[in-house]
Amino acid sequence: MSKPSPANRVAELRARIEDANHRYYVLDDPSIPDADYDALMRELEALEAAHPDLASDDSPTRTVGARPDGGFPEVRHVIPMLSLANAFETADVAEDADDRARYAEVADFERRIEQKLDIAAPVFSVEPKLDGLAISLRYEDGVFVQGATRGDGATGENVTANLRQVRAVPLKLRDTGTPPPAVLEVRGEIYMPRKAFEAWNAKALDNNEKLLANPRNGAAGSLRQLDPAVTRRRPLAFFAYSIGEVRGLELPETHSQTLAMLRDFGFPIAPEVDTATGFDGLIAYFRRIGKARDALPYDIDGVVYKLDDYDQQATMGFVSRAPRWALAHKFPAQEQSTVLRAIEVQVGRTGAITPVARLEPVQVAGVTVTNATLHNEDQIRRLDAREGDTVIVRRAGDVIPEIVRVIEAERPAGTVEWTMPATCPVCGSGLVREEGASAWRCTGGLTCPAQRKEAVRHFASRRAMDIEGLGDKQAEALVEFGFVHSPADLFALTVEDLVRMKTALDAATAADFAQAVADSKGALTLDAKGETVLAQEMPAWKDAAFLRAHLAVDTSGKLATKWAENLVAGIDASRTTTLPRFLFALGIPHLGETTAKSLAQWLGTLDFVRTTPAVLLQALPDIGGEVARSIATFFEQPGNVEVVDALLAAGITFTDEAPPSAALRERLGLAHLLVALPVDKLGGKSAERLAETYGTLDALLRANASGWTGAGLSTAGADNLSAYLADREALQQLRDTDAAMRRLLDAAPATVAKASGPLDGKTVVLTGSLEAMTRDEAGEQLEALGAKIAGSVSKKTSLVVAGEAAGSKLAKAQELGVEVWDEAQLLAFLAKHA
Ligand code: IVH
Repeated sequence: MSKPSPANRVAELRARIEDANHRYYVLDDPSIPDADYDALMRELEALEAAHPDLASDDSPTRTVGARPDGGFPEVRHVIPMLSLANAFETADVAEDADDRARYAEVADFERRIEQKLDIAAPVFSVEPKLDGLAISLRYEDGVFVQGATRGDGATGENVTANLRQVRAVPLKLRDTGTPPPAVLEVRGEIYMPRKAFEAWNAKALDNNEKLLANPRNGAAGSLRQLDPAVTRRRPLAFFAYSIGEVRGLELPETHSQTLAMLRDFGFPIAPEVDTATGFDGLIAYFRRIGKARDALPYDIDGVVYKLDDYDQQATMGFVSRAPRWALAHKFPAQEQSTVLRAIEVQVGRTGAITPVARLEPVQVAGVTVTNATLHNEDQIRRLDAREGDTVIVRRAGDVIPEIVRVIEAERPAGTVEWTMPATCPVCGSGLVREEGASAWRCTGGLTCPAQRKEAVRHFASRRAMDIEGLGDKQAEALVEFGFVHSPADLFALTVEDLVRMKTALDAATAADFAQAVADSKGALTLDAKGETVLAQEMPAWKDAAFLRAHLAVDTSGKLATKWAENLVAGIDASRTTTLPRFLFALGIPHLGETTAKSLAQWLGTLDFVRTTPAVLLQALPDIGGEVARSIATFFEQPGNVEVVDALLAAGITFTDEAPPSAALRERLGLAHLLVALPVDKLGGKSAERLAETYGTLDALLRANASGWTGAGLSTAGADNLSAYLADREALQQLRDTDAAMRRLLDAAPATVAKASGPLDGKTVVLTGSLEAMTRDEAGEQLEALGAKIAGSVSKKTSLVVAGEAAGSKLAKAQELGVEVWDEAQLLAFLAKHA
């Protein structure tokens, strides 16, 4: 390809910059990263300087930003809002270059000032360069009257109503003891604090809404909302950094004194603002703020140097669009463009699937980024990110790098929309996405290698199988070193296995420390678990003696043997357990301890739990559709079934297996099966009538649509039902469910054993928080004594137990005159009836 002529290149650069300006300032939808924009601008400046005949007054190098697009009334700035000349690190600087070579533009800037003013080491106000949106606030007689965006520097937009919603913008000047100035225009930056930005996006992600690309975009978009109420909900903040028009106020002699004055008037000033002397002072400040950058609560894209003395500023004057007395010294950009090589999915330790972008390595803010998160399927769809796309990657602070936009203009031909794989990339089990959830999940909980560590750790944990001597770290190490592949393998471990594992663990821990030291100057990347590893400052303990002393490596092996013997005994003891513990230990998503207890109470045996279809599980109290489906799906995975069988074969026994609860008769029956069918016009009432008429599924199926209408079903309902049952698979499923239901009911005792306890027939409501136990635990104990637990207080409530910070339920109880106990009364009662 031949090089374009300078005239053509200038035209092309102007067109691209103007387009980028429009997207940035008017549409709040930047098209290219700042770093790319700066590069285009610099190339244009250089070309115009080399070819003065190509310079033009309407070149983007002479104007700033873009004119407002008419959404808000215009405001003419009495004193234009200028911009700053930028300085970057010199390109391709030698490794050992001194600061004047490395920061040549800063050195030039400072030298020009020294020469023109004929002084050595001038004093500067030094400030963080906030990455937000420049605004101007006008106060007349101390009262906020008008707020405007910068716009193109000469004309901005009137966003007064929105700025009134920003808490950091004072509506009145603070009283300083003297009458307020007739006019004071304060300029500064509206920004979105990083935490607020992250919280905002986390919520947007949950709610499946569009994410903010970055805090600056969030600030700009929020300020330009047409409805101030929307702005009010956005977490915006403000720092003042200069002044515009002033009347009726004597200004101090220096800029730093002006900032102090603004602080007295009630404006927030960035805490990092300082003064510095000469070139060395500037660079020291640049380095100090550069180090602090990632930890600051807001995004900055550099620092600003401003000659402090106003007389000296006046002597220096201006070039076309920027003062000669100020300079923005930029940090490496937090956003860069690069190529998205591939989209892969990672499986987290609990089975959550996260799509990850594999990138052409790119330097972002001083760190090499090769991976970025894409959050979830919906986010990929919103971005329309495809393999091969050029994308913008952002990293700020210690958050995981993310892809914020696709540069669609650079999309190569032949890309295809991305789709979620159907099976887990690690174990091949099916993936499910629960209703309302944004994440997909692997269903191979017990066997998926990505989830093994978590499965074994959870299985052994205190509230699950409570295996004495097997802590989180050892459980994970057993998997890591290949001694255990599933919880069932624990029961085959020998003392020798465990000693070998412990030795390997100690050695690996030592190696980890050493590796961490070696890596301390490494890049930011995702580790095997998909977690971000940041380069960290490491202490200098590199010698072996230090490590040995701190790790207490057991060289004789005696300690390890003792630990191993105890653990084998602990594992052995855990073989005898309870059904709820075991169910909880399996780590079935959404199956907590309370649900496990309830399942055990209703179904009695493991066999019933693992064979009862979701439709029936859902009929049990406390078990919603999501939990029911999760349990059934879990036991449908061949890998999970194998592990459960292996556990039983290893001798797990339950002390509390019993027949299913007789109360099932009230919950399950033909009517229940029918209502659960996805058949229109077959509601609760007609299902009951059909059940009464036919008694059994077989009898119902022997009849036909006309029979059903005779039994009280509408014609439409009957037609729908026969259409549904014409599907052989659906029919078979119904028969299977019915068979499972009858097995359960046949096994249940004929009558509900009448509980007799001190709280028989009483309805109890628990509210507020208890200290000695959770509300659920208290509820269970009360139920065991015959009480019925209810969620809300009514005339029928017999008793309210009110813990700390009880609210409206307590008030209602008092209003209705219902008996109220505090926690002490509850505990005394439980103790008495224990
Ligand atoms: S002073 C003539 N101080 O940078 C001086 N600007 O390129 C005008 N900015 O539009 C600006 N932090 O949005 C100044 N401490 C600071 C700043 C700052 C951020 C932004 C501002 C302005 C742009 C200039």
